[in-house]
Amino acid sequence: MARLKTGALISGSGTNLQALLDAAASPDYPAEITLVISNKADAPGLARAEKAGVATQVIDHRDYADRAAFDAALDSALKAAACEFVCLAGFMRLLTPAFAEAWRDRLINIHPALLPSFKGLDAQAQALAAGARISGCTVHFVRPEMDAGPIIVQGAVPVLEGDDEAALAARILEVEHRIYPLALRLIADGRVSVAGDRVRITGAEGDAGAVLISPSG
Ligand code: GAR
Repeated sequence: MARLKTGALISGSGTNLQALLDAAASPDYPAEITLVISNKADAPGLARAEKAGVATQVIDHRDYADRAAFDAALDSALKAAACEFVCLAGFMRLLTPAFAEAWRDRLINIHPALLPSFKGLDAQAQALAAGARISGCTVHFVRPEMDAGPIIVQGAVPVLEGDDEAALAARILEVEHRIYPLALRLIADGRVSVAGDRVRITGAEGDAGAVLISPSG
């Protein structure tokens, strides 16, 4: 079985990257992480990739005149490594519409909220400020608009009395680590199709896109 050659873009700690690396360590997993690119040289996620024996590259956005030039460098690196698919895993740069279109339906992101609510930065703080009783995370195909695109998998968690941003973020992050490998697996297995703004998951796992976590975990 040919595994889907996947590049991952990171900016920070890379715990979602770790979840993908752990999943891909199993030979049955239908995708492999072949390249990890960080826009920050000190991103701890780089060491996670190295430990897993995956090639890494630092492409610092500050070395490029504009977003288009930076994205062109990302694009060339991904193509040079023969990546067929890309996962954004805590990558904190906005990509240009041209990049999003070039990788349309081959580029996914994870966001720490139940989209379309709470787009943008500090999604967990936004959920708390809005008094949401349930929040969670979303894996979606990337479109030119920020934190928009067809939803593949969502995981929901309760917002508990007494939660601060860190407590809610940690509860959501645990679910992120479950749904990101799940979404990539469904795609690499060929079970995911995009029709307009919606995703269809076919086969026995048609309802796998909803992951609900009860208050007791
Ligand atoms: C995750 O919570 C991810 O959802 C979020 O950054 C964190 C990265 O953690 N991404 C965004 O907010 C993108 N808009 P990680 O580096 O440990 O995976």
